[in-house]
Amino acid sequence: MWHIIFILLFTYAKCDDNYNERRRELVERELRSALGGNTTLSDKENVVNNCLMRHKFDELDYAFDHPNEFNFSHHFFSYKNRIPTSKVYKIIKSMPKGALLHIHDMAIMGADYLLNITYQEHLYVCFDKPVRFLFSSNVPNVTCGVQWQLMSEARAAVDNVTEFDAQLRKLFTLVCDDPDKAYPSIKETWTRFMQYFNSAHGLLTYRPNWEQYFYDALTFFKNDNVGYVEVRSILPNLYELDGTEYDTLITAKAYRKIIRRFMKDHPDFIGAKFIYAPSRKVNRDVLAQYLVSARRIKKEMPELFAGFDLVGQEDAGNPLIEFVPQLLEAEDLNFFFHAGETNWFGTLTDENLVDAILLGSKRIGHGYALAKHPVLMQEVMAKDIGVEVNVLSNAVLSLVRDVRNHPLNIFLSLNLPVVLSSDDPGAWGADPLSDDFYVAFVGVASKLSDLKLLKTLALNSIKYSAIEPENKAEALQKFTRQWNDFVDNFDCSSY
Ligand SMILES: *[C@@H]1O[C@H](CO)[C@@H](O)[C@H](O)[C@H]1NC(C)=O
Ligand SMILES: *[C@@H]1O[C@H](CO)[C@@H](O)[C@H](O)[C@H]1NC(C)=O
Ligand SMILES: *[C@@H]1O[C@H](CO)[C@@H](O)[C@H](O)[C@H]1NC(C)=O
Ligand SMILES: *[C@@H]1O[C@H](CO)[C@@H](O)[C@H](O)[C@H]1NC(C)=O
Ligand SMILES: *[C@@H]1O[C@H](CO)[C@@H](O)[C@H](O)[C@H]1NC(C)=O
Ligand SMILES: [Zn+2]
Repeated sequence: MWHIIFILLFTYAKCDDNYNERRRELVERELRSALGGNTTLSDKENVVNNCLMRHKFDELDYAFDHPNEFNFSHHFFSYKNRIPTSKVYKIIKSMPKGALLHIHDMAIMGADYLLNITYQEHLYVCFDKPVRFLFSSNVPNVTCGVQWQLMSEARAAVDNVTEFDAQLRKLFTLVCDDPDKAYPSIKETWTRFMQYFNSAHGLLTYRPNWEQYFYDALTFFKNDNVGYVEVRSILPNLYELDGTEYDTLITAKAYRKIIRRFMKDHPDFIGAKFIYAPSRKVNRDVLAQYLVSARRIKKEMPELFAGFDLVGQEDAGNPLIEFVPQLLEAEDLNFFFHAGETNWFGTLTDENLVDAILLGSKRIGHGYALAKHPVLMQEVMAKDIGVEVNVLSNAVLSLVRDVRNHPLNIFLSLNLPVVLSSDDPGAWGADPLSDDFYVAFVGVASKLSDLKLLKTLALNSIKYSAIEPENKAEALQKFTRQWNDFVDNFDCSSY
């Protein structure tokens, strides 16, 4: 009897040793093959990492025991104001994050910034649907369903300016108290989103404001510890008080002027470029005009023109296949196509991913649908196409609810060439990049993913940027200096 028990115990123990070893090896292999998993940290970086991971585990262990309180399974608007209290967030906020590669011109700064602009002189308002604004020295000679009135007079005529401004502010943000009721589907979300752009348009395309706004945006990026940006712009026609309207080349030149000024004021900033990204909801003739403009701008300022893209709700716009013959002739422009920002598997929208790859896109905007396409994922890896993932945008714009279900976790596990970005943070009151990094790090990535992931994401953003090969080393140097500053001065107790 004792003999048998002894043999059983012995065999079990022996098998157990072996099993644990094999198990450890399997887990290890998977962690290593994920994005950032195979990099190493210095001793100082390990100090940062231990602090970061202690707080990350605190948040996730609590959430695991109280899933009803797990913020990231709810709408971003329901928890966004609590984010700044998170220690993980605070560490991420002060961490250099490299480049911001997917952000749209008119949705960078938040609602308060736009509301402030409504206090400027010479502003007219048309309380039509959507509400529109125009700066003008005289009553604008532009169609308005009701009538143009001076903003200052409209405001002076109300009893309660606080209430009036609170209503006005709603035009400049998608944030609301009951998002689940306000945005039952992608249709309502995008309708509201388009109204946002209509209202912001006249405020921002007034030439002096466009310039000030972009300077302020660059400051906003810098303060969020972003070192470089590629902004997607529709290059709208700017205008003056007397009604003078300029063409797209002038808008591009305004970018050049502001970028130069900002770099002079902040030589430690890495830089900025723009991607010309007009609406995809056009016919072939208009696309042809876009391509002519793109060529002209690229010729004039090749150092700032990063490339070409088409924007707007993907399901509602033209799929890339419509324009393939024209785009094949224009590959020298460098494409950065939005593709796969859809939940409709197997549709023409979904197949934008195929065309983006075949047309030689340098990066793919969103690529949300990629996880359903293993062959396309292989192509993305083989061609080393950067995938610009915007988790909060996908959540706010009704593609995913609980971010634990966002396909980014698959992309990270497969070590796809991912960069994180924010798309239109101003429209939902998010940071240029820190909120997206935080939610992706705690809500989407593995619990075990650590500073190695964050550092690799930041490095990826420089790698997949349109910075010229000959300037990449210097950009990387600037980033490394910022990163080392962060690591050297890190003090866990100050978070
Ligand atoms: C990890 O890095 C080591 C050394 O740099 C390399 O030999 C190994 O192949 C890498 N493993 C993976 C899974 O990438
Ligand atoms: C998440 O929400 C709960 C309330 O449900 C709150 O107490 C907690 O602080 C939040 N966590 C974070 C990190 O915001
Ligand atoms: C709005 O204007 C006020 C007063 O000029 C200023 O203090 C505040 O910082 C501005 N807010 C934003 C978001 O620009
Ligand atoms: C207003 O615009 C119309 C059409 O563009 C033009 O014919 C008319 O002369 C303009 N009126 C004034 C007062 O500028
Ligand atoms: C004005 O409106 C604000 C916000 O709705 C409200 O809190 C305030 O009491 C109102 N003031 C007056 C004088 O009615
Ligand atoms: Zn976008």
